[in-house]
Amino acid sequence: MKILLLGKTGLLGSEFPEILEKAQIEFVAPSHIELDLLDFAKVDQFLAGNFFDKILYCAAYTDVDKAETERGLCERMNVKALENILTHRRPIIHFSTDYVFNAPPNFSIPEDYERKTLNFYGQSKLQAEKLLETSNVPFWNVRPSWLFGKNKENFVTKILKLSQEQDVLKIVGDQIGRPTSTKDLAEFVVQNFLLKTQEVGHFHLQNSGNPVSWAEFAKYFLKKKNWDGEIREISSDELEAKVIRPKNSVLQNTKLPENLRDWQEAVDEFLGIIL
Ligand SMILES: NC(=O)c1ccc[n+]([C@@H]2O[C@H](COP(=O)([O-])OP(=O)(O)OC[C@H]3O[C@@H](n4cnc5c(N)ncnc54)[C@H](OP(=O)(O)O)[C@@H]3O)[C@@H](O)[C@H]2O)c1
Repeated sequence: MKILLLGKTGLLGSEFPEILEKAQIEFVAPSHIELDLLDFAKVDQFLAGNFFDKILYCAAYTDVDKAETERGLCERMNVKALENILTHRRPIIHFSTDYVFNAPPNFSIPEDYERKTLNFYGQSKLQAEKLLETSNVPFWNVRPSWLFGKNKENFVTKILKLSQEQDVLKIVGDQIGRPTSTKDLAEFVVQNFLLKTQEVGHFHLQNSGNPVSWAEFAKYFLKKKNWDGEIREISSDELEAKVIRPKNSVLQNTKLPENLRDWQEAVDEFLGIIL
């Protein structure tokens, strides 16, 4: 088996090389500079000259706020670049997001729940999902959420840094989800989507455990760090963000026989590595 890993410098993509090596899976992982996915001619040439059993597609445009003003770039990257890759008809593991939903609170969203987006980033990822569905290419579309990992800045590392500078942190309390470890997610993907045969389709993968708000999540790991500042919970409206984000990011896995471990355990391990 030979894998093409795209997006190897990303928060999620950067977890894969070590895990693939350990599993003794052969892979090629060109960087953004080596293979710009927006250079369709170059991508075509590369894929025509190299055979891969599966593509592990971790590349994406992920800046939710900037996407509103960089709509062209966001759409080219999340939709057109994928469309170009799909013309090469290689089975693909693609990552989508909780942002394809706008579900009511206190509800775990199953994989086939009606998709409705609240912002341009979400819209581009929904377009990507629809492309996969109509492509006739075998696809496994994994929707995670709230990723944290050691290789790139994320909510945990950002809040830890802010906690060293400020005594009061204002954090949103009305967006609910489940934090997800990039390491757990990547290991699960290799075990269940590369080393095992899986029916194609959409999959929900988050760490398990009780859903929390961003504020509750921050309280959890700042308490572990014995931070004595104050977390002030604010509403999404008070944040005055330019982009509307989903209030409910609790995804239900109804298809895979196993779940990822509890997010608290994963966060504890993560803190042990980075602190
Ligand atoms: N982060 C989250 O909380 C979260 C939540 C739910 C779903 N997801 C999904 O999970 C996937 C991975 O997210 P992530 O947070 O790991 O993303 P990320 O950190 O932003 O990484 C994106 C990757 O794409 C590469 N890339 C961007 N433009 C490219 C281009 N034109 N050509 C080649 N490579 C390009 C980047 O390379 P450079 O850095 O070198 O430009 C980087 O390696 C995405 O599909 C995202 O939608 C993420």
